[in-house]
Formats: sequence, C-alpha cells, structure tokens
Amino acid sequence: MNFLEEELAYLQEHHLYRWLNRMDDSQAARTVINGKQSILLSSNNYLGLTEHPELKAAARQAVTRWGTGAGGSRLTTGNLRLHEELENTIARFKRTEAAIVFNTGYMANLGAITALAGKNDLILSDELNHASIIDGCRLSRAEIKIFPHKDTRALEKLLQQAQGYRRRLIVTDGVFSMDGDLAPLPRLVELAEKYRALLMVDDAHATGVLGYRGAGTADHFNLEGKIHIQMGTLSKAVGSAGGYIAGSRKLIDYLRNKARSFIFSTALPPAVIAAATTAFRVIEENPQIRENLWANARYLRSGLKQMGYSILAEESPIIPIFIGDAGKTMKMAEKLFTLGVFAPGIRPPTVPPGTSRIRVTVMATHTREDLDRALSAFMQAGKELGII
Ligand SMILES: Cc1ncc(COP(=O)(O)O)c(C=O)c1O
Repeated sequence: MNFLEEELAYLQEHHLYRWLNRMDDSQAARTVINGKQSILLSSNNYLGLTEHPELKAAARQAVTRWGTGAGGSRLTTGNLRLHEELENTIARFKRTEAAIVFNTGYMANLGAITALAGKNDLILSDELNHASIIDGCRLSRAEIKIFPHKDTRALEKLLQQAQGYRRRLIVTDGVFSMDGDLAPLPRLVELAEKYRALLMVDDAHATGVLGYRGAGTADHFNLEGKIHIQMGTLSKAVGSAGGYIAGSRKLIDYLRNKARSFIFSTALPPAVIAAATTAFRVIEENPQIRENLWANARYLRSGLKQMGYSILAEESPIIPIFIGDAGKTMKMAEKLFTLGVFAPGIRPPTVPPGTSRIRVTVMATHTREDLDRALSAFMQAGKELGII
C-alpha cells in the first residue's frame, strides 16, 4: 500500500492535493465555513433557492405525507406520484414532450450517453465538457472524437469524415462549468441537422439561469424544439438534488428502458422531489430573482475587471478569474478566505494545466454590500500577491 502515500505526496508537492472545506451553516450568501463567517462566492445555488421558504415548506410537507425515503428504484416500488409530477413539470418548463429524472446530474449524463451510444457509434465531444459527460462517453464503448473547445469548423470536418457509424452523437455543455462561456448552439443545431447527428446539451448551469424564461440555453438561443436531448440538474439553481433529461416522448420511454443509472438505483426521496417541483414554480412566477442574479453578476464582473483581473468569459453568472499557476491560485484562494470571502481555486485535472483559476459565482441573494466587501478583498489579495 506504499503507493497511497507516494501518490498523496506527489499531489501535495504539485499543489494538486484536495481536501474538504466544512460548511458550518447553509448555502446562503453569508454563511460560516470552517468556523469562519464568510461571503459565499462559489456556490451553484445561483438563485438562492435552497433557502427559499416555499421549497423548505414543500420538503417538510413531503416528509410528513410520504416519509423520508423512496424505498425502491423507479421501476420497482419507488415511483411515487411526486416523481411523475416533477417530470411533467420539467417537460412543461423545457417545452418538450417528456422528461425523466435521475438521482444526480452525473447519473443523467452517464445513463443517457451510455444508452444512446455504443459499439459502432461515434461521439463528438467538446474538449471542455464536464467530467460526467467524459465518463459517460468512456463507459459507452463508442468511438470518441474530441473537438477543440467550441470549434465548429473542426467539428464539421470530423462529421464529414464520420462514415460507416451506426449513430453520431454531438455532446456539449450548454454553459461550460469552469469557463462560464456558452456553447455555439445555433451552429451545432445546423451541423446536427446537416449530418443527421443527435445533439445533446448539458444545461446543468443554465437551468433556471439562462433564457427569457430561465429554461436554459435552448430558451436563450430561441432553439426550443431543436435539441434532441436536453440534460440538466436539479442540484444547482433549482436548489435541490437530481438530474433530468428532457426530450421527445420516445426518447424518454427509451431511457426508462435502457439507462442503467436510472434503472439500477433507488429513486430520490420525497423531500428532494417536492422541493424541486416547487422550485420550477418559484422560478416561473418570480423572474426578478433571475434578474437579481444577472445584475449581481454584471456588478461584480465589472468591479473585478476595473481592478485589472483577467476574466475568462462574460456570458453567465460564472466568473472565472484567470491566475494560471496552480500554487499561486491556491494562495489567492487562501488569502481571500482570510479576508472573509470563500471562492476556491480550480486546478488540474478539473482544468487544463497552466489555466488554474478562481471560479467565482454570484447568487441572486447577494446584497450590494456583500459584493462590495468581496471586491475589497479581491483588491487587497490581488495586490499582495502581485496578481493585479
Ligand atoms: C456541466 C455539469 N454537468 C453535470 C454535473 C453533475 O451534476 P450533479 O452535481 O447534479 O451530479 C455538473 C456539476 O456537478 C456540471 O457542472
């Protein structure tokens, strides 16, 4: 077992060792982390819905009425009426014929990709896709071709050469999780149509955040009805847990029969499902929550840019601040934490070597005072470490 020690020592030496920070309070804009009062500037709880009184009430009522666990997989004894209500709600929200809920976003990607592609198929995947897409591709046993980030010319070349495959699947993040930029969806839709490929988009960071109705990247680009497979999570802006695939009735029926991560896992518990269903109603009825999120993102991003920080993308509430070196990035995160701001460093293997960054996300529930305090911390830390 010497390899354990050696491997851990290697990680430490290369600033790649990971540890857990302990949340001592909820996912609120101001919280307590490792015993210290902090402004939370890195949560995917974009709309602050984990704290919303209506979601909390729905979860409490679900426990009282339905108990604490689902007791079985969806195909055995775990298919509560609540699950079906949630799936109908998601389909309505996404304007698709149907939807299917998985226990996590990770499992939704794994289950859908492995069900849709196999031997003799080709998957075309953006180089910056999320790990759950990468793992789904690997597990599928399909041939995988990675195209450079958002490079639709390179993708078209690959599609032109893609003869003799049973199926072709193009897969991309809608909002890239570590870069905060958007997939070139209009062109991807054209290419999928031209080369008769399936198009799958991961809206983990877009659900509830992007688009006129907050319904994701298809809503944002006015491409509703044009994307075959829309994946999303219930764990980020929706404020609960789980993942979904939305699409045609046939697609969802097929996944119910073929997606192993759906079939072979106990269904999500009632409280989680009820909170998610309520979240979609709250999102639809309160567009101002989303407007606050975007206003906060604009305010913080503009303040950081004025200080001279290099911001990698400006298209979502994810604000990646480029540092480069992994060690320096971790020092920056540490300094920010001592100044009362929690915004962790992101290093390889999550991002390519030499592109380490502080990944800031804002929430709709941050006040201007929270953001101003965060900006002062960034000013002090950046100057002390010679970053700005
Ligand atoms: C782009 C993307 N896809 C999928 C997932 C997985 O979702 P979940 O956390 O619900 O498993 C995440 C985040 O965790 C993500 O950022």
